[in-house]
Amino acid sequence: MKTTLIRIFSFLVTLALPVLLLTACSDSESVSVPQTEQTGTASTSRWYSNEQAVTGAEVFARNCAVCHGENAEGLVSDWRQRLDDGSLPPPPLNGTAHAWHHPNAVLLQVINNGGAAFGGKMPAFAEVLDESEKLAAIAYFQNFWSDKIYAQWTQIGGSN
Ligand code: HEC
Repeated sequence: MKTTLIRIFSFLVTLALPVLLLTACSDSESVSVPQTEQTGTASTSRWYSNEQAVTGAEVFARNCAVCHGENAEGLVSDWRQRLDDGSLPPPPLNGTAHAWHHPNAVLLQVINNGGAAFGGKMPAFAEVLDESEKLAAIAYFQNFWSDKIYAQWTQIGGSN
């Protein structure tokens, strides 16, 4: 049932997309398809390569998993529930919480500056990781996003 819905959704998205995107498929570097099961639908094309997601797994395990969980699933049952000290817990980044409302530029900002600016607990990674490591970490947790979430993120200008 779920798969059928995703198929239908993917199909509709494919219809709505300009031919431009299809021709862009020949540029295999920028439009790669990490999922092997579904092919030929535009919604499975992601901005990152498999390689970036693999590198990201290492970056994430070393720097982020301790708070966000190994599979970016978060470590608390309710990420909206403030902790005793009034701060928010690290949310899941796997598409089940709020991270997908942010374009990459904002995700990078959070990673660079951490949460200090708004009383948050996340440390800043501006000086800890280089640009490609930060992007790889984003690729890693976005790889957990369903095609549906990814398509919604793209519609709000996510990869900008
Ligand atoms: C010490 C714990 C900790 C570590 C380590 C950590 N984070 Fe966070 N992260 C948080 C917390 C807490 C928040 C919620 C905002 C806040 O309070 O700062 C957050 C928020 C975020 C958000 C915003 C999510 C949203 O829904 O808007 C992103 C993206 C993020 N973290 C990515 C990362 C990445 C990538 C790494 C590793 C490079 C990382 N975090 C490492 C604690 C952490």
